[in-house]
Amino acid sequence: MSTFLSDRRARVAAALHLGDALLLVGAGEPILLPERTDQTYPFRADAEYYYLAAQECPGGVIAFDPRDGDHVGWVSFVPDVTEGERIWEGREQPPGVSIAALEPWLSARRGRPIVALGTPARDVESDAGLTAQARELLHHARRPKDATELALLRRTAVATAAGYVKLRSALRPGITERALQIELEAEFFRHGATRPGYGSIIGTGPNSAILHFSPCDRVVRDGDFVLVDAGAEIDRYMTDVTRTYVVGQPSAFQRDLYQIVLAAEEHAIARCVPGAEWRDVHLAAAMEMTAGLVHMGVMRGKPESLVEQDAHTLFFPHGLGHLVGLGVRDGSGQLPGRAKSTRPGLATLRLDLPLQAGYVVTVEPGLYFIPALLNDPARRERFRDCVNWPLAEQHLHLGGVRIEDNIAVTAGAPENLTAAIPKNL
Ligand code: GLY
Ligand code: MN
Repeated sequence: MSTFLSDRRARVAAALHLGDALLLVGAGEPILLPERTDQTYPFRADAEYYYLAAQECPGGVIAFDPRDGDHVGWVSFVPDVTEGERIWEGREQPPGVSIAALEPWLSARRGRPIVALGTPARDVESDAGLTAQARELLHHARRPKDATELALLRRTAVATAAGYVKLRSALRPGITERALQIELEAEFFRHGATRPGYGSIIGTGPNSAILHFSPCDRVVRDGDFVLVDAGAEIDRYMTDVTRTYVVGQPSAFQRDLYQIVLAAEEHAIARCVPGAEWRDVHLAAAMEMTAGLVHMGVMRGKPESLVEQDAHTLFFPHGLGHLVGLGVRDGSGQLPGRAKSTRPGLATLRLDLPLQAGYVVTVEPGLYFIPALLNDPARRERFRDCVNWPLAEQHLHLGGVRIEDNIAVTAGAPENLTAAIPKNL
């Protein structure tokens, strides 16, 4: 077994505090398509399994007995590949011990509590309390990225950058969102991607204000915002980048909006240092962008007071970012033991913890004109004096701007893994 995997497993063994409990981590099984055929969704092992196995293996189980020692107590049980799988899918027998040996392994340890992580086989009787505790600890232990993970993330950043260059060179009035998607994703693959990391988001014109817009056949027009949020994946690790462009000449209003978001993003990146509380980094960006909107005449009042009232959420309705790696939100959430904030302006944060060296975090501030928020009577009443409503209405179909990079937190200065993707409008 590779050294990185045995080091990773030993680190997890130390982090989980299993006591006398046994650990089983299941890969899960392929899921049938809702078409009543034998076809399945492309198989992706549960991330908790993949982290400890570094292989896709439907039906695989990683088992660990702490009594056998942090390094040697691990066994990888794998199903025997069938003839049908060899013929239809070209599968080879993965390394590991036959799954038939799992039952005797468990019988020899009868009476011990079981922690069942990953996607467990349905017949495992696990201890729910110990499992929930171990899941939180594993989640936290996966947050700092090891050298193998960082190397994969750097490769995905290279493939992602190539895709953005290609998309940008194709951008002109008359092209559709779909055609842009094809250029972007084909270039990801040409540069080693095994998949797009998630459904690519490409929103042009008013669609750029829809936070997770799936590209369609809309034709790009002169003066449109074009918001692209996409990233390449290699071996389950992915980059998550957003850039916003204007086709043709940006208006002064578009340029101002863009500069506010860009400055907030760059300042937030500089704040990604060990010990920084993510909610503070988020609130500082919210404050800066609110001040910018006041300066543009879109919002009215003192930025501190507007943010205190959560009025900024009219234009910046999401959190500043999340952790990324083995999955687009890998390791996000709260510090173990910390409850999710109930304050409306913080409840949308996907992350609430102090940053540590080794974390890779997305920084993705955005400002949007979202009709569903700006036309909402309750919000219009509540924030009556906070917004220049006639001006906001003039831009109801303008769309929005988001700029996103992936930042490796280090003991020194933050490292922007996606800095090679240009950020000019
Ligand atoms: N890029 C998609 C997301 O962060 O949700
Ligand atoms: Mn993101």
